[in-house]
Amino acid sequence: MRANAITITGLTKTYAPSAKAPAKEALRGVDLAIPRGSIFGLLGPNGAGKSTMINILAGLVRKTAGSVDIWGFDQDKNPRQSRAAIGVMPQELVLDPFFTPRGALDVQAGLYGVPRAQRKTDAILDLIGLADKADAYARSLSGGMRRRLLLGKALVHSPQILVLDEPTAGVDIELRNMLWANVRRLNAELGMTIILTTHYLEEAQEMCDEIAIINHGQVITRDTTTNLLGQITTKTLLITPDGPPHVPPLPPGITGAVRDGALALTYDHTQHAADQVLDLLRDAGITITDIKSEQATLEEVFLALTAAR
Ligand SMILES: Nc1ncnc2c1ncn2[C@@H]1O[C@H](COP(=O)(O)OP(=O)(O)O)[C@@H](O)[C@H]1O
Ligand SMILES: [Mg+2]
Repeated sequence: MRANAITITGLTKTYAPSAKAPAKEALRGVDLAIPRGSIFGLLGPNGAGKSTMINILAGLVRKTAGSVDIWGFDQDKNPRQSRAAIGVMPQELVLDPFFTPRGALDVQAGLYGVPRAQRKTDAILDLIGLADKADAYARSLSGGMRRRLLLGKALVHSPQILVLDEPTAGVDIELRNMLWANVRRLNAELGMTIILTTHYLEEAQEMCDEIAIINHGQVITRDTTTNLLGQITTKTLLITPDGPPHVPPLPPGITGAVRDGALALTYDHTQHAADQVLDLLRDAGITITDIKSEQATLEEVFLALTAAR
């Protein structure tokens, strides 16, 4: 069995009522174990409770009940060690405009008690692509640069776990690619455990080994990405005929539609074989010029899971 980077048990969070809003139960008894060395996705719609969970891990939000163990240290019993094991890139842009990137990294390293001789400020500036902006005031940095600086701040104390809260919400493609390249590198080269939240299902599918889907403050499923995608047994073949497409007579369990000049045939692959579907077309006198197979997506998994409740 792999050791866990994080073990969360019975975690609840109820935000106190305010003048504007009643009390809010943001987390309702979450149990979750995140293995060391993984790229783990916390997936769920807006308001599901993802940031609340991350902020509890980061020590920024106080939990209502439950326990949190980070790298073998209970958050309540060993707050210092558990905090040292984790670096968090928050969802919100929180930066002091009067610091330069170098200054911000130094202050952060100081907060974590990293001795000067052990600071890797220049290496971090290089990694986040801000070496040439090292001494520019944060207020002169673009939104993308500020986000990169937040990533840098999360790394100053060389944590074993890096947490990224919606790192690509509203960022351009270039920054997104740069972030993902860095994350993959930190995971592959240093074995850093990566936890990221996103509401982009495609992104989670592409990046994560394992995924927990959370909805209304509860974990509704948790599995490897491969197993989650394997839950979808519906398969679609997109067939281009050599003439105008039309739907031939089909037996029960196979449905057909014309889509973008192609014939889309959908069936349960545990009930029907692709061969059988293609034979039906040949029997109907259809000549096939091209075949594509559509992959299951996490979106289908998500819809299937949330529809069942
Ligand atoms: N500081 C807060 N005070 C009151 N309610 C909050 C606070 N932060 C978040 N919430 C509420 O808790 C729920 C979960 O929010 P959040 O953890 O931010 O979800 P997510 O990150 O998945 O979008 C939402 O209903 C949100 O409005
Ligand atoms: Mg959030």
